[in-house]
Amino acid sequence: MKDKDLFRVGFIQNSPVFGEIEYNLSIAESLLTQNTADLTILPELFSTGYHFLNKEEALNLSEVIPEGTTTQSLIRICKKSQTAVIAGIAERDGSHLYNSAVIVDKNGYLGKYRKIHLFGTEKNCFDQGNLPLTVFDIGAARVGVMICFDWRFPETARTLALGGADIIAHPSNLVLPHCPQAIITRCLENRIFIVTADRIGTEERIPEYPIHFIGQSQIVDPDGNILYRASEKEEESRVVDLDINYARNKFINSSNNLFADRRTELYRL
Ligand code: ACM
Repeated sequence: MKDKDLFRVGFIQNSPVFGEIEYNLSIAESLLTQNTADLTILPELFSTGYHFLNKEEALNLSEVIPEGTTTQSLIRICKKSQTAVIAGIAERDGSHLYNSAVIVDKNGYLGKYRKIHLFGTEKNCFDQGNLPLTVFDIGAARVGVMICFDWRFPETARTLALGGADIIAHPSNLVLPHCPQAIITRCLENRIFIVTADRIGTEERIPEYPIHFIGQSQIVDPDGNILYRASEKEEESRVVDLDINYARNKFINSSNNLFADRRTELYRL
């Protein structure tokens, strides 16, 4: 923390080379050691790339958390740079595979999240996430995690916000064009910050089925202001100072509190 109320959060928007874990990690490491963030978010599956052709290929590139190379490297980087990172990786747990995110800080491994809403061909490789939506204490901030397509289910962000999240870290490999704008609504609905860390580029693992990623990583505040939005085509990283208290005030005017005004007795969820 550089100031009593300010939390420095950043993202890295990368363009991973499929299957080249060491190379992708080295690019992330050089950016992480240059920035001065309290917390940096990396994209979904940032060290492997996205489009696994089958479960066997995904298994070969997956890692056990926290013993695997990627998590251990992130722990080493966080210790050295006295920072925290949330990053998407392919997780192996016995014969199960998850599209996961690890949460690490300067003291080591804090936990993991397993994507609960799988998108498209992910269903051929990964198991559905089976861990509760959890809020982690990172420095002065309370941080929830959702991965990419989880945005399309408003229950995800709501659950994290009701659980006390000030910020949602959103590692992504966005394919659908609507997400950057829709995230503004998630922030307004919950009066929270959301940091989406996306990737760029196209994977043509199957030439007739290219997958294009839309970039536009962004940081949005509790009133839906876009504090920064990255380009669609360039790799970049960005750090922004957030006033965490802004997300802890759920009043939108003197008579409306977004959480206290909920009519839970009339909802059917
Ligand atoms: C996605 O969930 N990676 C589109």
